[in-house]
Amino acid sequence: MKWLRRLTRRHPVGLSTRLLGLTLVFVMVSEVLIYVPSIASFQQSSLAERLHTAGVAAMALVMTDEAGVPDALKPALLAELDAFALAVKQEEMRRLLAMVEMPTPVARDLDLDMMTPMVAIREAFDTLLFGGERTIRLTGPFSEGGGGRLELVFSEAGLRGELLVYSRNILILSLAISAFTALLVYYSLRRMFVRPMQRIGQALERFSEAPEDPARIIQPSGGAGEIAETEERILAMQRQLQDTLKQQRRLADLGLAVAKINHDLRNLLASAQLVSDRLTHIADPTVQRFAPKLIAALDRAIGYCQSVLAYGKAQEPAPQRRLVALRRLVEEVAAVAGVEGRPEIEWVCDVPEGLEADADPDQLFRALVNLVRNAVEALEGSDGRVLVRRLTLSARRSGAVIAMRIADTGPGLPPLARENLFRPFQGAAKRGGTGLGLAIAAEIVRAHGGSLTLVDDGPGTTFDIELPDRPIPIGGHPPHRHREAG
Ligand SMILES: Nc1ncnc2c1ncn2[C@@H]1O[C@H](COP(=O)(O)OP(=O)(O)OP(=O)(O)O)[C@@H](O)[C@H]1O
Ligand SMILES: [Mg+2]
Repeated sequence: MKWLRRLTRRHPVGLSTRLLGLTLVFVMVSEVLIYVPSIASFQQSSLAERLHTAGVAAMALVMTDEAGVPDALKPALLAELDAFALAVKQEEMRRLLAMVEMPTPVARDLDLDMMTPMVAIREAFDTLLFGGERTIRLTGPFSEGGGGRLELVFSEAGLRGELLVYSRNILILSLAISAFTALLVYYSLRRMFVRPMQRIGQALERFSEAPEDPARIIQPSGGAGEIAETEERILAMQRQLQDTLKQQRRLADLGLAVAKINHDLRNLLASAQLVSDRLTHIADPTVQRFAPKLIAALDRAIGYCQSVLAYGKAQEPAPQRRLVALRRLVEEVAAVAGVEGRPEIEWVCDVPEGLEADADPDQLFRALVNLVRNAVEALEGSDGRVLVRRLTLSARRSGAVIAMRIADTGPGLPPLARENLFRPFQGAAKRGGTGLGLAIAAEIVRAHGGSLTLVDDGPGTTFDIELPDRPIPIGGHPPHRHREAG
């Protein structure tokens, strides 16, 4: 059997070949089920025919016996019947009509009137399997003689021969039928099932060799049914995959571009920083007021470029959490996001003096700048002199969580931005927008273990930030003890 396993491993048996084999076996099994009752009925009718012929002969003997039958005739008659003895039983009288010497005594008794289907099956297999030179006594009605019973004694050999010929014919016929059926099943399954499966397999292989090539997308064969449905599903999946691949490629290109820009921008910022350092030496009070802010902004920009380059991708590094004076941070945010110097926008900074957050100051700063800048852009975009343009940033502490809210009275989030909320590059619904701001803000807040959510209580747009403190290690000291009621 080892060689068979090795062979099938090297040449896996195809689906169609296995189906061919299975069909052959199934048809043979059903043929056997048909064969069992049919061989029984064949034996029964053969016995009935023997008895009928014997009945005609017995009739002749009974009639002529009365006139005196020449004894020489009887053995010839029995030879014609292929029997050893013939007797009738009428009105409790048994008459032996003819008899020759038997080679063996009677070994089996068969009664045609007792042949229920089960008995017939058993007797047929008895003849077939154990039959040979036994002698049978067959009893049945003597209808030709107008009533009574007829007995015929004969050798089993002839009957068994008939059954064997019948069985051989049935076997040949079943083989022919099962081969024919199996071929039909094989070809129809091949056409309906195996070929389409092979076609799908080839199409998938072709596609996987070059998934970007639109010419390699599967061509559905049309029609109805499971195969056609599968093809349609594969088609949809391949299209989606190609879209995703295209998008990924664009993102990869963009990533490279960002890395290059970032790299050179850092160098430019560094030289700007050198120049602004020298500004601090100028005694002019205006310069003295703005120079530190300029230097701080440049520092922050360089730090960010540096961290992106160091990380090698546009993913945020883990936050470096410290205690942050939230009010001062928010004021800086307002300055950088362009709220200051815009009299048309009413800026409400509702952050208590002394409120402290446990966060990475640069990251939190960037998250807030993105949210506040979006609000400013939305407020600027809404025209009309009588409009209220208010931007409120409030913050409170409740327990170990800082809750912040950035609310504006602008036109509200457009549907595109709403559907693609926090998804990079997808939610930009205004000209010049890249659709990164909200995604960056959400990522930063999440990295702090907090959440950024859109509050649907229009008009305008409201975002809520929840920023939990670092978890306190059990038995350790809390990061800070300053707590304010929320
Ligand atoms: N406060 C807001 N009011 C109205 N629309 C807003 C507001 N905030 C965001 N949006 C909408 O959501 C979109 C996505 O904002 P997001 O900050 O992610 O990207 P962007 O502002 O378009 O580009 P950038 O990456 O430069 O920030 C914006 O294009 C804008 O249409
Ligand atoms: Mg934005």
